[in-house]
Amino acid sequence: MRNTITHPGADELVYEIREIVEVANQIKALGQSIIWENIGDPVAKGETIPSWIKEYVAEALKEDSTYGYSPTKGLLATREYIAKERNLEGGIQITADDILFFNGLGDAIAKIYEHLHPAARVIGPNPAYPTHSSAEAAHADSPHYTYSLDPRSGWQPDLAELERKIKENPHIAGILIVNPDNPTGFVYPPEILKKIVAIAKEYKLFIVSDEIYSNLVYQGTPYCKLAAVIGDVPAIAMRGISKEFPWPGGRCGWIEFYNRDKDEDFDRYCKSLIDAKMLEVCSTTLPQRLIPTVMSDARYYPYLAERNKRYQARADVAAKILADVPGLIVHKPQGAFYMTAVFKDGVLKGNQTLPIANEKVDELVKKLVATDIKLDKQFVYYLLGSTGLCVVPLMGGFNSTFYGVRITLLEPHEETFVKNVTLLAQSVRTYLE
Ligand SMILES: Cc1ncc(COP(=O)(O)O)c(C=O)c1O
Repeated sequence: MRNTITHPGADELVYEIREIVEVANQIKALGQSIIWENIGDPVAKGETIPSWIKEYVAEALKEDSTYGYSPTKGLLATREYIAKERNLEGGIQITADDILFFNGLGDAIAKIYEHLHPAARVIGPNPAYPTHSSAEAAHADSPHYTYSLDPRSGWQPDLAELERKIKENPHIAGILIVNPDNPTGFVYPPEILKKIVAIAKEYKLFIVSDEIYSNLVYQGTPYCKLAAVIGDVPAIAMRGISKEFPWPGGRCGWIEFYNRDKDEDFDRYCKSLIDAKMLEVCSTTLPQRLIPTVMSDARYYPYLAERNKRYQARADVAAKILADVPGLIVHKPQGAFYMTAVFKDGVLKGNQTLPIANEKVDELVKKLVATDIKLDKQFVYYLLGSTGLCVVPLMGGFNSTFYGVRITLLEPHEETFVKNVTLLAQSVRTYLE
């Protein structure tokens, strides 16, 4: 090229959750069957969509308007429905104008960082959902700033570290939380949320709260959305239907602006997000059309409660099996459908292996681990070669300073789930021996 055409932040774009699939497919081609435990797609893992939801979709498809563009911000009736539901929960009150639809939250996440001032940074959790951390790092062409969710204290956020980093880095303009969290399943207690809001207020920051799993919180865990505690601090909350309906292929999510009127610069930034969407015309129409119909159906919340009960049961079983493994730290998730096991300091050495029966797979894995890879990724490759179990390494996959792996709680059959987690537990034992 006459001039360099690659964006300077291009190397920050890493999505291990899908990149691991390429390696798994190479291993599969050599004869090892794969157990996909890497991706948070309930449909891919065999979740069946309730027939009453499918009937609503089929009916909506008969309306010509569902084939057309929608208004840039999203269908008015849907935004009005969402605003009304939001306001009934108490906390901050919004209108349909405070809502902007996207083609999935992936699209929303890309846009919110792309349109931030190049020098403005958003600090996020460690471990981090990589779409946020990568997009934020790419926008600034610099590694993502993080505060720790501490595996030694049940994944509680280290608020002292958060505040120290905010003080030290005047470029930090916002705080990201993912609540419930991916990959840890941690749910921010309301009093911690209030403290984060207080920090944001003190340092004049805005908050981004990814709440895509907000209706997937397990029984017994107190939960509140950011809206309940935000007060007068500028913020963006993110929601979607990929995990709830679940309809990840519908590519439909939305953001809610809180307190646009409290800060001129925040207001302009929100306008720039709406203007950017206007250049694209709009987001997907059909799923938007279905949101009020599906969510107001009396079967919706009982259906979610059933699913949450299943994920909670999976979490209990997995925690029981993995807690006994020396060298691992695990905490029972409180929401979403993931669980993260962290390797204790110093247990991964770099010379550990697992037996691989298939010679060609063994050769491939040895070749892969001979490159400069992180210690948890090395374990993940051996696990793949030895058992076919495909999980995501924490350090590379979730921009983390901890070594570990993430599994999902999505397996519909309990026996298969127990078998898979037991396989993971046995493999860690053998690997660390
Ligand atoms: C925390 C979080 N936010 C956003 C997304 C992206 O969701 P969407 O399917 O709406 O793009 C995911 C997907 O796994 C997620 O885990």
